[in-house]
Amino acid sequence: MKIAIGSDHAGFPLKQKVAAWLPSTGAEVKDFGAYSEESVDYPDFAHAVASEVEKGNFDLGILICGTGLGVDMTANKHQGIRSALCWNKEIGKLAKSHNNANVICLPGRFISFDTAKEILEAFFNTEFEGGRHQRRINKISC
Ligand code: RB5
Repeated sequence: MKIAIGSDHAGFPLKQKVAAWLPSTGAEVKDFGAYSEESVDYPDFAHAVASEVEKGNFDLGILICGTGLGVDMTANKHQGIRSALCWNKEIGKLAKSHNNANVICLPGRFISFDTAKEILEAFFNTEFEGGRHQRRINKISC
């Protein structure tokens, strides 16, 4: 799986840990920044990652800011993106089985690295259920 990852300054510490861990799951990772804890604007990084996923260059995007909210709002402005804000492994599993998310957003200031790994492992190890969930996804765009 090819994964694009990005964060703002608030998400930077967790992004570094997640990006370093992802190759051990078999994923290929490209880091779109930020590259330090210097203050930046989360939409710059969220748009970059979402655009790459939308174009089909990556299978999944992972975005991290302080709350996860700003990057999630930004990513979901892209027509081809279904971005899911996840804060525990149950939500991570449902983001795949019900929503077939192609971007996962994490709240870097509110979850631990262990929780982030649990969320992502749950997402990776779950299949999209299709059926009524596909019908609902088809109704999202306006
Ligand atoms: C940065 O202080 C913070 O506002 C940002 O990381 C994020 O939480 C916004 O949604």
